[in-house]
Amino acid sequence: MAAINAVVDLGKDGDIAIVTVNSPPVNALSADVRDGLDGAFKAIAGDASVKAVVLVCAGRTFIAGADISEFGKAPRGASLHAVQDAMESAAVPVVAAIHGTALGGGLEVALCAHYRVADARAKLGLPEVKLGLLPGAGGTQRLPRIVGAAKAVEMVTSGTPMAAKAALAAGLVDEIVDGDLTAGAIAFARKIVAEGRPLKKVRDDSSRLGGDAASLAPMFAEFRKANAKKFAGFEAPEANIKCIEAAVALPFEDGIKVERSEFMKLMGGLQSAAQRHVFFAERQAAKIDGLPVDVQPLLVKSVGIIGAGTMGGGIAMNFLSVGIPVTIVETKQEALDRGVAVIRRNYENSAKKGRFSMEEVEARMGRLTPTLALEDLKDADLIIEAVFENMVVKKEIFGKLDSIAKPGAILASNTSYLNIDEIAASTTRPESVVGMHFFSPANVMRLLEVVNGAKTSKQVLATAMAVGKAIGKIGVVSGVCHGFIGNRMLGARQEQANKLILEGARPADVDRVLTDFGFPMGPFQMSDLAGLDIGWSAETSKGVSVRDRLCEAGLRGQKNGKGFYDYDEARNRTPSPVAEQIILDYAAEKGINRRDISDEEILERCLYPMVNEGAKILDEGMAQRASDIDIVWINGYGWPVYRGGPMFWAEHDAGRDKIAAALERMGMDVSPRLKAGF
Ligand code: 3HC
Repeated sequence: MAAINAVVDLGKDGDIAIVTVNSPPVNALSADVRDGLDGAFKAIAGDASVKAVVLVCAGRTFIAGADISEFGKAPRGASLHAVQDAMESAAVPVVAAIHGTALGGGLEVALCAHYRVADARAKLGLPEVKLGLLPGAGGTQRLPRIVGAAKAVEMVTSGTPMAAKAALAAGLVDEIVDGDLTAGAIAFARKIVAEGRPLKKVRDDSSRLGGDAASLAPMFAEFRKANAKKFAGFEAPEANIKCIEAAVALPFEDGIKVERSEFMKLMGGLQSAAQRHVFFAERQAAKIDGLPVDVQPLLVKSVGIIGAGTMGGGIAMNFLSVGIPVTIVETKQEALDRGVAVIRRNYENSAKKGRFSMEEVEARMGRLTPTLALEDLKDADLIIEAVFENMVVKKEIFGKLDSIAKPGAILASNTSYLNIDEIAASTTRPESVVGMHFFSPANVMRLLEVVNGAKTSKQVLATAMAVGKAIGKIGVVSGVCHGFIGNRMLGARQEQANKLILEGARPADVDRVLTDFGFPMGPFQMSDLAGLDIGWSAETSKGVSVRDRLCEAGLRGQKNGKGFYDYDEARNRTPSPVAEQIILDYAAEKGINRRDISDEEILERCLYPMVNEGAKILDEGMAQRASDIDIVWINGYGWPVYRGGPMFWAEHDAGRDKIAAALERMGMDVSPRLKAGF
């Protein structure tokens, strides 16, 4: 085998040339890989003894796409199009041998091979839409020529890959190889040479598109309509659809021109920059600063959960779903039964939707041990307390756990605000105590704030992060401060939202401005959903806030159909005149002069203080990096991913200086980091 360069080798097995890409971790199409492929195909073109070519990758995957870290930088090395041309116009058959994930530019390269074979576990897809992009190397023109326009439009707008078996059925893959992939691909190449099969060029065959522009127009119209809500705010899905339409309506070369121009528009836009930032930010968040390399996470094979309410039950489901047994504890049989029944019902609903079988429901429930005895947690590797927010109760529980839990067990609290260090101090092993703050519904929401106490050991912190990953969460490390990263910033927003409705904005105006920005719901819709009476009691209510007054008037939010909005049976909402009157009366009583408030002011007053709070969190070292804050807000609070998170937005869209100046005008204390840069 001869090295073309550091990442591409060219070898031979008899008269079959074997091009191997070896560029860890995911064989992305960096300049070096493109140069290597270019060199390899040039060498092959000059070698008359070669009868066929196999393109294969070393390591864990076939080419997983263009190298995203090169985007936005000056172009270097051979162009991807040149490499693709060289493959497609090769004089001998080229076979792509796919394992792992052939994604984006990787699949687009494979689509320029004349044949594709795959390992049975391989996945093939065009996920560019998730980066705010579209497949820019012919994918939008070639994929529909194999799988049809209807399937292609679904694949490029969802980014969801196709499993090898489905790819075989769709004709995207010509053969599935059992056993060694390279050997299987070589055997396949020999077979097609022996049979004299043609050099199939995907671009030349439009017979499988599924119709022409006129006959497929209703399909495109229906697809747009059905997905309008899902695509709202995003630029990339529509651009992807346009390209598939072009594949149907235009000759290949003209379709490629449409793809090129749409790709360049997206690539130069802020949305893709934001989504690419999020891609790397998500992976960065998993890294713990200063973690010594020799610290290995502990093994967690069994979990105990205290509290079978909404949070405890949701948390339990995460573990049951991935095969980890859970013992769940409640203080009363009735609450325990109710909690277990909710878990079962959730699983059964998923099974009814076809997500898994009824046997799987039973298997998951079979891993759950309900109990009233805290002592039953004595063997658990990880115990997560998920009772209501009360420091006295939490301290009491942790004090008891200290004498029950086995040595080395991790003691975690799901608190969303309280001081982990104070909780840890109620044990003799604060090094084993950590915060694991899940977001509701805990079986669905991807965010997990892992709260690093002053005495939490590195190993315990690393374990909490590893556990989060194992159950499909995105863990973000937070320091100990009131509300941690997410709720602390939410508090800054809510404070302004509450002021705005007294100064003249209506709750529905505030909600509309934030949903127009891209949040799934505004602060007052969120309050109604959570329940206005959280932490409120009739006995102690002093009527000192709008919230107190709303609760005193019997407005509890969605749960009783009355809150900032009135809700009908189908949960349609209309602004509540009762709530509005309460707000007006309260403002009058406080002597607040109401005025017209512009949408711009609402947005600035809700978001700028949040960014400022984020910057303070960085000033205090409560978050490891600005991008972690973005990940918290995108995954925990519905910040629109195409705006990259609050810190990205401040830096690249709204402008830090503008925000700092506005905050100063508002008379707020501005974080030094906001002025200096994150
Ligand atoms: N470019 C650059 N770096 C990439 C990359 C890419 N396309 N894909 C992954 N990486 C990096 C990650 O940042 C990570 O780096 P780190 O270790 O320094 O944090 C490392 O590779 C490993 O990635 P993961 O942690 O994500 O590894 P997994 O095994 O969990 O997942 C994967 C592997 C499924 C390939 C996943 O990385 C992935 O989905 N990658 C992106 C695929 C993609 O979007 N491809 C399309 C790119 S755009 C394109 O091709 C445009 C074209 O149309 C012209």
